[in-house]
Amino acid sequence: MNSLHEIIINKKTSFSPIWVMRQAGRYLPEFREIRKKNPNFINLCLNEKLSTQITLQPLKRFDLDAAIIFSDILMVPHGLSQKVEFKKNFGPILGDLNLDKISKISELEFSNKINPVYSAIQRVSKNKLLKNKATIGFIGAPWTLLVYMINRQSPKKKLKRHFFKDKFLVSKILIVIEKFLKIHIKNQIDNGANVIQIFDSWAGLLKEKDLLNYVYTPTLNLVNYVKSLNVPVICFPREIKNYKKFCEIVEPDVISIDYNVDPTKILRDIKIPIQGGLDPKILLTDKEKLKKEASKYLNIFKDHPYIFNLGHGVLPETDPNMMDYLVKMVKDY
Ligand code: CP3
Repeated sequence: MNSLHEIIINKKTSFSPIWVMRQAGRYLPEFREIRKKNPNFINLCLNEKLSTQITLQPLKRFDLDAAIIFSDILMVPHGLSQKVEFKKNFGPILGDLNLDKISKISELEFSNKINPVYSAIQRVSKNKLLKNKATIGFIGAPWTLLVYMINRQSPKKKLKRHFFKDKFLVSKILIVIEKFLKIHIKNQIDNGANVIQIFDSWAGLLKEKDLLNYVYTPTLNLVNYVKSLNVPVICFPREIKNYKKFCEIVEPDVISIDYNVDPTKILRDIKIPIQGGLDPKILLTDKEKLKKEASKYLNIFKDHPYIFNLGHGVLPETDPNMMDYLVKMVKDY
C-alpha cells in the first residue's frame, strides 16, 4: 500500500507523507530547459515521453510520496476542441466556445485527442521511482472549467459581468463537462492513477447562494463517480468560505486546504483526512522560517491523518534547495 493510501484509507497518524502542488514545473531548471525548447505548452503535455520525464523530475531530486502527472486542467476543453493557448506571463487564453461543435464530440474522439496524457500516466505509474508511492491523476472541477471555457482567460479577482447571462449555455456546458470529466477520470485510473485530485481553483469566486448549483452538486457527482471506481478522491475548493459545509455535502476522502484556512479551526470542524495549507510564499524566505511554519502544520495535525502539501502551487521563483529542505524536514519530523 502506498503512503497516501495509508493516510486516506487506514487513517494513519504516525507520519505525514508529502507531495507538492505544481511540483513538476517552472521552479526546476531541468523543467525550464525542456520548456525553452517546447514553446507550445499543450503540445508539451501531449508529448508522452517528455511529460513522463517532467513528472519524474521532482521525484529524482526529492523523496516525495507521490507523482502528479504533468498535464493541465485545460486539456479537457482542448479535448473538446475549444482552442487553448498559453501566453507567456499572462496565462491561458481560450478560443470561442462553440456549443454545437462541443456537443458533437464523441467519447472516442475526446480520448484519442488527449491519449498521450494517459500513456504518460501508465509510464509514470510503472516507473521504479513510484515504488510505494501514489500516482495522482487530476481534473479541474466543473465550476473551474466552466469559468475558463466561458471567461476564456483567468478571471483574476472577479467574473465578467454577464457571465451567467446565457443560462441555457451555462447548463448545457455543465452537462457536457461532467460527462467528459467522468471519461477523463476513468481513463486516468485505467492507466494507473491511484488517487484523483479535483482542483476547484475558482470556488472562492461564487456567492453562497450559487454554491449548490455550481460547486456542491456537480462536484458531488464526480466525487461519487471516483468512489465508485474504488479510488480515493481529494478535493481542493480553493478559497471557498465554508470548508466544513463543503465537506458535509460533497464528502471527499481528503480535503485540501488553502493558506487562508486556520488549521486549528479546520481540525475542530472536520473529521476526514486533511492535506496542505502552508503558504507557498514561505518557501521564498529562509530555512528557519520555513521550519517554523511547516512545523506549525505538522504539530497541529500530529494526531490527525494529514498529507503535507502547500496551500496552493509552488511558485516559479522558489529555490529548489528550499524544497529539498522542506521534504527532508517533513520526513524527519
Ligand atoms: O501540479 C503539478 O505539478 C502537475 C501539473 C499541473 C499543471 N497545472 C501544470 C502547469 C496541474 C495539476 C495544473 C492544474 C491547473 N492548471 C490549475 C489548478 C491549480 C491552480 O493553480 O489553481 C489551473 C487553474 C490551471 C490552469 C493554468 N495552467 C493556468 C492558470 C496556467 C498559467 C499560470 C501558471 O500557474 O503557470 C497554467 C500553466 C501551467 N500549468 C504551467 C504548468 C507547469 C506553466 C506553464 C509554463 O511553463 O508556462
